[in-house]
Amino acid sequence: MNIAIAGTGYVGLVTGVCLAHIGHHVTCVDKDKEKIAKMSQGISPIYEPGLEELMKENMDAKRLHFTANPKEAYANANVIYIAVGTPEREDGSADLQYVEDAAREIARSIANDVIVVTKSTVPVGTNERIKHIIEMEKPPYVRVDIVSNPEFLREGSAIYDTFHGDRIVIGAENEEAANVIAKINEPFGIPIIKTDLRSAEMIKYAANAFLATKISFINEIANICEKVGANIDDVAYGIGQDHRIGPHFLRAGIGYGGSCFPKDTKALVQLSGNVDHPFELLQSVIKVNNRQRVILYEKAKQVCGSLYGKKAAVLGLAFKPNTDDMREAPSLAIIERLLADGVRVTAYDPVATEKAKALLGDRIDYASSPEEALAGADLAFIVTEWKQIVELPLSVFAQQMATPLIFDGRNCYALDEAEKHGLQYVSIGRRAVGQILNNHYSFCQ
Ligand code: UDX
Repeated sequence: MNIAIAGTGYVGLVTGVCLAHIGHHVTCVDKDKEKIAKMSQGISPIYEPGLEELMKENMDAKRLHFTANPKEAYANANVIYIAVGTPEREDGSADLQYVEDAAREIARSIANDVIVVTKSTVPVGTNERIKHIIEMEKPPYVRVDIVSNPEFLREGSAIYDTFHGDRIVIGAENEEAANVIAKINEPFGIPIIKTDLRSAEMIKYAANAFLATKISFINEIANICEKVGANIDDVAYGIGQDHRIGPHFLRAGIGYGGSCFPKDTKALVQLSGNVDHPFELLQSVIKVNNRQRVILYEKAKQVCGSLYGKKAAVLGLAFKPNTDDMREAPSLAIIERLLADGVRVTAYDPVATEKAKALLGDRIDYASSPEEALAGADLAFIVTEWKQIVELPLSVFAQQMATPLIFDGRNCYALDEAEKHGLQYVSIGRRAVGQILNNHYSFCQ
């Protein structure tokens, strides 16, 4: 199969590389010439474990190519994937400008029958709109079929997820087009669900909304656990053993971030409003998440009163481990509040520092190790559960910090360990450890 992919962001690049790896001939298209030049040298524009190696392997095997010339790529393709961004508009709805531009470009470039597959997360009805745009501008002798094939990749394990996903969803107007896309994906050996276009579009939004709901649910249970003196780790384990609930996505923390959940939940709320059925449950999920993102800061204020003039270490900047993605990272919300309160912030992240610098500039200091960030700090905030941070011995906090007062947003440490090291330790949904805290921070009210 000759496949072209429009857009080399997260989804487009990972999809292109993996489709090449299972034997297809893939050309990834992007308007950004600089990006294309880099990728043509085997350099990945994003940090994703295993991606660059797989890119190089498939480029060497001449199955994977990059071009800034869409016409050339689309003209020779049997299948074209649209994997461009659908950023959030001010009102929360998805901005479809790039998807529509890609559809127009495809229509003007194709000379043979083609299947256009939408990977981008798009509101229900968008694939029909894509079809309409292409029909208006394509040559009359060319047949175009539209397929919706949403992705469910997690950043940081995107390659693994592509080869080990739970299901592949194929929404199509006709069986023939669905079968072609099923055949393309066959080598992945993943169960395929065939449905119509609108249901496929809805599956993606519903999946992300449900997962976001699970996170906000467990975060609220954690907040109540603190008040009643229960332990969220035990509670989450206890409910997760019920197979109707399941053990996944029950890690309490500082809220979800990243490129999907925040954007897609808002887009679904917007969509539900448009069809006159406001999704009130999801509105609450978003509200809870916004509050949870700054919960470590609120806890610090509760303990310390004023934070003015204090030195804080922030451990972890990326929205989750194994990615350099800073989109909607809870670290940003926490740091902005600390800076506004006159706190001096030194941050450490093993990978995301450059991306963070582009957003935060010299308003904070950047450390090249957790030890350096912690040196002389009055407060430490554990924000991202990177291996380098989770595995940091608690003795390092005791040795490096001016006052070992730790706010752990990822429950990285056992409470008795924190006690043994004589630390003041506040986590999520568990009792606080340390004398100062017992004086200032009341859990069982
Ligand atoms: C998510 C979906 O998992 C994926 O299917 C979809 O295609 C894109 O969005 P991603 O954003 O990469 O993937 O990361 P994920 O691992 O799902 O985590 C999302 C956020 O939820 C992170 O901020 C993470 O810290 C948070 N999270 C996740 C929790 O707070 N608790 C959990 O139990 C799980």
